[in-house]
Amino acid sequence: MSKTNSIFRTKPIESLLAEASKKSLAKVLGPFELTMLGIGAIIGTGIFVLTGVAAANYAGPALILSFVVSGITCTFAALCYAELAAMIPIAGSAYTYGYVGLGEIWAWIIGWDLILEYTVTIATVAVGWSGYVVTLLSAVGINLPPALTNPFGQDGGIVNLPCIVILGIVILFLIKGMSESSKLNNILVLVKLAVVILFIVIGAGHIKVANWHPFFPYGVGGVFKGAAIVFFAYIGFDAVATAAEEVKNPQRDLPIGIVASLIICTLLYIIVTAVLTGILPYSAYKHTSAPVSYALQQVGISWGSALVSVGALCGITSVLLVMTFGATRILFSLSRDGLLPEIFSDVHPKFKTPVKSTILIGIITMILAGLLPVSRLAEMANIGTLTAFIIVSLSVIILRKKNPDMERPFKCPGVPVTPLISVAFCAFLVYQLPVFTKEVFIIWLAIGFVIYFGYGRKHSEMNNEVSNEMN
Ligand code: ALA
Repeated sequence: MSKTNSIFRTKPIESLLAEASKKSLAKVLGPFELTMLGIGAIIGTGIFVLTGVAAANYAGPALILSFVVSGITCTFAALCYAELAAMIPIAGSAYTYGYVGLGEIWAWIIGWDLILEYTVTIATVAVGWSGYVVTLLSAVGINLPPALTNPFGQDGGIVNLPCIVILGIVILFLIKGMSESSKLNNILVLVKLAVVILFIVIGAGHIKVANWHPFFPYGVGGVFKGAAIVFFAYIGFDAVATAAEEVKNPQRDLPIGIVASLIICTLLYIIVTAVLTGILPYSAYKHTSAPVSYALQQVGISWGSALVSVGALCGITSVLLVMTFGATRILFSLSRDGLLPEIFSDVHPKFKTPVKSTILIGIITMILAGLLPVSRLAEMANIGTLTAFIIVSLSVIILRKKNPDMERPFKCPGVPVTPLISVAFCAFLVYQLPVFTKEVFIIWLAIGFVIYFGYGRKHSEMNNEVSNEMN
């Protein structure tokens, strides 16, 4: 073990596995459920909402290439995730890998960073959900007052009520148990996949090649700016790793779940974007928050447009379900390790789920989504995730050096080149994000340091390991 009073103290994998078995979660997930969990978390607001904005404002038809750039970035990161997830199958994902590979302070930074990523993503996605519901309801003549559908102080808004309602429903499902949530998730994922494929099939017949010219209206630079934005569409495959302790055969199934869900989504995104920018000129999407159904409506296929809207709602709901699940598991892990108060790692005796951390995440995301405008917060989610990917990739290299003999059921190919490429791509995308986003991120990290040095360091379970060792 490394120096136990140092902020760089690391956890031996054996002690993590032993601790995990003390407060255990029910093991109910297999490779199919994991892949569905991944797709559940991935396809949502990114493809159903952000594609239009990104095509119109950043990349034009070359948004197809933006998805390729982000997809490649995620593939390199996913290979690193898969190695660590199979080796250290513990809830907490990147945070736990950081604890083993880099040391406690890094683990805390990454855990704190993941809380930001997940809560902000959930809030953003809930607002996307609310937008679709409001549009669908008004299509059938039910108009909700602006006071209840907009964030506080914006367009006469007081609170975005639909966000709060959907988040409340998601929380109730998650409290009831992972088995039920995973069944609901499977249904939602099938519906959204069907709708995405339906869009591709119908839309392909309406592509006008002329709409792909000019292909680079914002130059090659626009492709990278677009990539930094649509990266949001890929957030979620890492959530598969947060389910590690609920997987029946994690060493085999986690890499399958992570890589399979990422490949499926990347292919679908590239095709959907090609069809979308082929149906209408990219500039047509400037003012719509529902580009996929809008495109079909504009070419006169109203039934298809309505179906796509319903499917988008299902898709976005499943993102909420999986990301909220992931957030609670990270909180659970931080608390179990003593870096946050113990109350958040209590497992409910009947439901076998961390009810208190689930409720806390619910309250935080309801406040964010219900009261705040989230246009800039989506970028916060990206910076949090990219930073997590960088630390995960570095952990792979460090662990190969520190623990060369440890069993690795899945080995990331081409180490150290693959993780280094992952770091370079992620760092490049962070660089592409607005300065404001980077500033808020630094403030968030500073708050994290205050909590760590004020609380976490003193209460860390690692302190007990010191005294145990010395006795
Ligand atoms: N990737 C998820 C989405 O696009 C967060 O909604």
